[in-house]
Amino acid sequence: MKKRIFKSATIESIDFNKIEHESFLTQWFMSYCILVSSAERFIVKSCSQGMRQSTNQVLNNNLKVCFFQEIQHAESHEIFNELYFHQNKLIQIFSNFSSFINYKVIAAFAPLSLKISIASAMEQLNAEIAYYGLSHIRDLTSNPEFSDILVWHFVEEIEHRDYVFDLMKELKINFMIQKIGMILVLFSFSFWITAGALIINSRTGFRKFELFQLFSTDHLLERFYKSSKKYLTKNYHPSHEQVPFAFYNYQRKFKDLQ
Ligand SMILES: [Fe+2]
Ligand SMILES: [Fe+2]
Repeated sequence: MKKRIFKSATIESIDFNKIEHESFLTQWFMSYCILVSSAERFIVKSCSQGMRQSTNQVLNNNLKVCFFQEIQHAESHEIFNELYFHQNKLIQIFSNFSSFINYKVIAAFAPLSLKISIASAMEQLNAEIAYYGLSHIRDLTSNPEFSDILVWHFVEEIEHRDYVFDLMKELKINFMIQKIGMILVLFSFSFWITAGALIINSRTGFRKFELFQLFSTDHLLERFYKSSKKYLTKNYHPSHEQVPFAFYNYQRKFKDLQ
């Protein structure tokens, strides 16, 4: 796990008009980029509070690098949003509404243990998205800049995926809370990201509408469900997951960003 600086110029040179017309899968990943920055800020905020109760120095040091990575992601996604919102006001309203409901209403009233459980579940599904994305990067987009920002994000999500889970275990958050956190995140990720993709799709017409892909074998919503199920088995640990081979290639590619 490394601290890397991602150049905002890469995001500024994305041709948003072009990528939103690529495919429904591209639109789904655009929606993910738009919505995930609030989730990343929520993860950093909740886990920083939780870390104060942890005396495990090795874990705390790893969490600090994880927070660095998440803040970089959130900032890059916010630049992405600012640029894309100029041409799509409806998705801006939707994104603000989603952040308000999820983070100002639902999460604001949750106790810290549930917030950390939600953060850990988000990391689980972020990593699942990363596994899918790294294995299918050519299907996601043909735009090199958008591809770069996605791959960089995926690599780091896989690098830091274990640490929020470890914090949840370190703080001895009980299994029922872990379960509630995952159920909330499973529905929230599936619903909000797909709804955002449908809003983007409504601008580009239904010509390339491939919603069925999300429900067919080895596609994202099915993967979410399987990953959640695994996550809720006793003795599960994210380090047991087999990382796609592409991860190591892309990790090498991004090493010079350090
Ligand atoms: Fe992230
Ligand atoms: Fe993450």
